[in-house]
Amino acid sequence: MNQEPQEQKKLQFPAGFLWGTATSSHQVEGDNRNNQWWEFEQQPGHIWRDERSGLACDWWRNAEVDFDLMQQFGLPAHRMSVEWSRIEPEPGQFDHTAIDRYRAMLDGMRRRGIRPMVTLHHFTNPLWLERMGGWENPVVVTRFQNYVRYTVRALSDLCDMWITINEPLVYVAQGWVRGIWPPMKVSPMGTVRVFRNMLLAHGVAYQTIHTCAPDAQVGYAMPVRVFQPSNPARWLDRKAANLKRYLGEHIWIMATVDGKLRPPLGVNEYNHALANSADFFGINYYTRDLVRFHLDPRRLFGEEHYHPQGEYSDSGWRGIYSEYAPQGLNQIVREVSVFGKPIYITENGLPDHDDDQRPRWLLGHLHALHQAIQSGCDVRGFYHWTFTDNFEWSEGWGLRFGLVELDPATQERRPRPSAAMFGDIVRDNGISATLVRQYAPSLLPVLFPPA
Ligand code: BGC
Repeated sequence: MNQEPQEQKKLQFPAGFLWGTATSSHQVEGDNRNNQWWEFEQQPGHIWRDERSGLACDWWRNAEVDFDLMQQFGLPAHRMSVEWSRIEPEPGQFDHTAIDRYRAMLDGMRRRGIRPMVTLHHFTNPLWLERMGGWENPVVVTRFQNYVRYTVRALSDLCDMWITINEPLVYVAQGWVRGIWPPMKVSPMGTVRVFRNMLLAHGVAYQTIHTCAPDAQVGYAMPVRVFQPSNPARWLDRKAANLKRYLGEHIWIMATVDGKLRPPLGVNEYNHALANSADFFGINYYTRDLVRFHLDPRRLFGEEHYHPQGEYSDSGWRGIYSEYAPQGLNQIVREVSVFGKPIYITENGLPDHDDDQRPRWLLGHLHALHQAIQSGCDVRGFYHWTFTDNFEWSEGWGLRFGLVELDPATQERRPRPSAAMFGDIVRDNGISATLVRQYAPSLLPVLFPPA
């Protein structure tokens, strides 16, 4: 019998698979003064230890430092976002110097062999929009459309993959349900208004991008968490988990498939622009949640918790848990595959300042993704969150998601071991047993079970 030696085994990814990293403008550019997050950071008590984005990763002046490093690790793709407040600093007034800078960034990536994907909205708004009521005001839909039209016309010769809106669910949950991000409201009506306006804006943006750039690929990035009933035998836990899935994911995804606005976003309402408004699905996957029935309607009748015996990333220290649950990625990719569209994992990663968990977590998730691909799912790319440590919203600089360590004070960068590992995976377009033995030997029997 001809037995394949263990070391030659490999989890091979499809040819042309896009490997990359992801960032957002406010988290990396620095000196982003004209949006609501900058204003929010200046007020004490909002951010962990009152930290501020400040210079962030200094991308506005020198993103090229990171592009050079990306090239060094052989990354063929990167997802970045552009900042509405820079491009349209006042309503209807567009700043071509901002566009010039973004053109230089996109061009810089391409010259280094890095294919860009651009997100048009990643949590931040121009201050003028905030003053008008932000995403609660229905006028935002046409305002967003104007900004999208201008931006895509100006950049579409350099970028052909677009994300309209990043994680609408997180934006609304943090700002209007939990009330811990701007505008710090707890408002069920506001929640519905914002979610609805974002959905409508996505549909209009999708159509607008295609008018400006007919061949572009356009989607949105959805934060997909796996909601599992705490006790699967308990009817109320199952219902509570389903309700979260329905409100958080189902109503958005389904509307972009069939154009129907479902309660509470609308009743018997069909929106032509929304129907079939995703050329691909972008999935941001971090962890799973167990859901236990709870009487509190503000928690949507479900209390989320983690597995008591779970393994947690660094964020465990502040009570913000992220559980190692790689199989959730396999599950959601299979679920989203039923819509027959290509899938990109637009974010996946973990906070791990000393990189002692990242290699294993990353390999575990890529293994789960590989299983989904083997079962027939059309996954075209994987973007790790993130390349260089960056400003982590209300966690400030406390959570370190980067393949590359950053000292924000000196701007000094130090690649972590996982950067080299990721580079090896990219070069190989797969995961070899030798690599697993080197970086996470405990996973060998999981990734390459003995015959
Ligand atoms: C967001 C990123 C964020 C990351 C890690 C995602 O929800 O899109 O902006 O930094 O998670 O928390």
